[in-house]
Amino acid sequence: MSGRVYTMEDLRSRERLDDGCVKPAILAVIGSPVSHSASPPMHQPALDELGIEGRYIKLEVPVGRVAEALQYLLDLGFVGANVTVPHKFAALDACHQVDEAARQIGAVNTIKFVDGEIHGWNTDGPGFAQALRQEFSFDLLNRRVMIVGAGGGAGQAVATQCARDGAARVVLVNRTVEKIESLATMLQKRFPQTSFHCLALSDVQLDGVARQCELLVNTSSLGLRPDDASPVSASCFAAHHLVYDTIYKPPMTAFLRHAVMHQATVANGFSMLLHQGVYAFDIWYPGRAPLETMRQGLRTVS
Ligand code: ATR
Repeated sequence: MSGRVYTMEDLRSRERLDDGCVKPAILAVIGSPVSHSASPPMHQPALDELGIEGRYIKLEVPVGRVAEALQYLLDLGFVGANVTVPHKFAALDACHQVDEAARQIGAVNTIKFVDGEIHGWNTDGPGFAQALRQEFSFDLLNRRVMIVGAGGGAGQAVATQCARDGAARVVLVNRTVEKIESLATMLQKRFPQTSFHCLALSDVQLDGVARQCELLVNTSSLGLRPDDASPVSASCFAAHHLVYDTIYKPPMTAFLRHAVMHQATVANGFSMLLHQGVYAFDIWYPGRAPLETMRQGLRTVS
């Protein structure tokens, strides 16, 4: 993907940051690596359409320097930022205030600077729920969900959102089962109305437990490479399943191919990416996010 990647050095002064540019930088995505972020092609057309004079930039921030980067952006008069891997957890600690979703998920992906303070939100969870509504007309209330590869950041956001929205049962599945046990214990305490279960990917009960679920979600990173295998075997899937892969590139993973083979209804992570972005834009500019423009912008890169 094209587009310059800025560094912490570029934040030293407004002159340096905006050198050679017509519009000032006002929003950024903070990550490492950040060069492949799909956020600028989604948000820049939205700014342009609304006639907002500003650039949405990519900012490479080393691990351990998120708080410093956010302070620079605040001092430079930025409107806000998105935060991506690996900084979403550290960003939470750098905020003066965070919304309920961010607190419950334990991670921040959207920042807005308010009256000299750093305020944080998490729109990944709400974006996931909105993606399910859009793709499947599906609401999480009272549903049974299996989350495959729940040991990473995406798994934590999706599992927490399921509980926030009142799912009846959430089955966390992971290659390394120890990595999900503390998440399950923590969520179980916080959301007693949802029953949480942990299962190893290799567990012989996996197919049977999957059959009892309505929604299967892949939050593992397996599938990002086109030749990756599916984290679960084809025998997990049935025609009654709704199957969502949080991966959007490539658009068809082995996980989704298995599901299609068994006549399940499938969708990839494009809609989650879009809706987390729409929610973020609505935080910066309340009620103004141009959904279709953002969808088209994202289509140019995914
Ligand atoms: P993060 O989001 O923290 O960067 P990650 O390393 O990308 O996490 O891994 C996300 C999830 O993908 C984890 O649940 C991981 O399983 P483990 O916790 O057992 O490592 C899962 N994952 C990654 N590669 C996998 C593989 N080859 N097979 C099965 N699961 C895998």
